[in-house]
Amino acid sequence: MDMYDAMSTLRAVRRIKSDPIDPAVINRILLAATWAPTGGNMQPWRIVAVEDPKIKTELQHLYKPLWDAYTVGYRRKMEAMPADEKASSAGALDAGDYLANNLGSVPLIAVFCFNPSIMAITDKDQPRASVVGGGSVYPAVQNLLLAARNEGLGCVLTTLLCMEEPRVRELLQLPDDWYTAAHVPVGHSVGGGHGPIRRKPVNVMVSQDTWDKAWPTV
Ligand SMILES: Cc1cc2nc3c(=O)[nH]c(=O)nc-3n(C[C@H](O)[C@H](O)[C@H](O)COP(=O)(O)O)c2cc1C
Repeated sequence: MDMYDAMSTLRAVRRIKSDPIDPAVINRILLAATWAPTGGNMQPWRIVAVEDPKIKTELQHLYKPLWDAYTVGYRRKMEAMPADEKASSAGALDAGDYLANNLGSVPLIAVFCFNPSIMAITDKDQPRASVVGGGSVYPAVQNLLLAARNEGLGCVLTTLLCMEEPRVRELLQLPDDWYTAAHVPVGHSVGGGHGPIRRKPVNVMVSQDTWDKAWPTV
């Protein structure tokens, strides 16, 4: 795929079939993840590629109540939305419900793990939430997502299971010092899969020289 086409159509795909993925394709997308940059090239992340139906089902049992609880407020907020926004939010919620009810049958869940003790976390002493450590994990997640997109597979970055991290660590038998950053279900999509995304324009997201000056629209 053209790189820009892949990036601009990499939307969250939550309706994923149980059909198997060609093992060669799985190997290619896992390899793409390993190409990601990390602080000091320490590569302080690993993937546990979950294909075992029993483990996937356990992950679904943990995920479903988290999704249901997370979306309570959102469903309420939706009532006040204008019709077009409401329709698109309802679609995303339906797809999210689908994932929460079918996570156990997607062919692959790539669980991204990280080890903070081998990470260069340059903002760890700042009086705010630290984010730099994530920079040594999420580029690998994005590489895998883009590679899956390139292979015509559906996928979505999820993090709700981090709220049940102790149980996930136990389930996956993670060693001491290894934690979880993302859980990415991957497989052939039900229906259209990836497609156009809605994002804020560049002049909202980017400033020129100083914060107050919007990047000029060309
Ligand atoms: C850090 C992060 C965490 C996310 N966690 C979840 C999640 O737990 N479950 C889920 O269904 N989607 C999750 N998403 C997907 C986002 O909801 C989705 O990317 C966003 O709403 C934009 O949707 P679109 O790409 O389809 O336009 C997450 C995305 C990111 C970047």
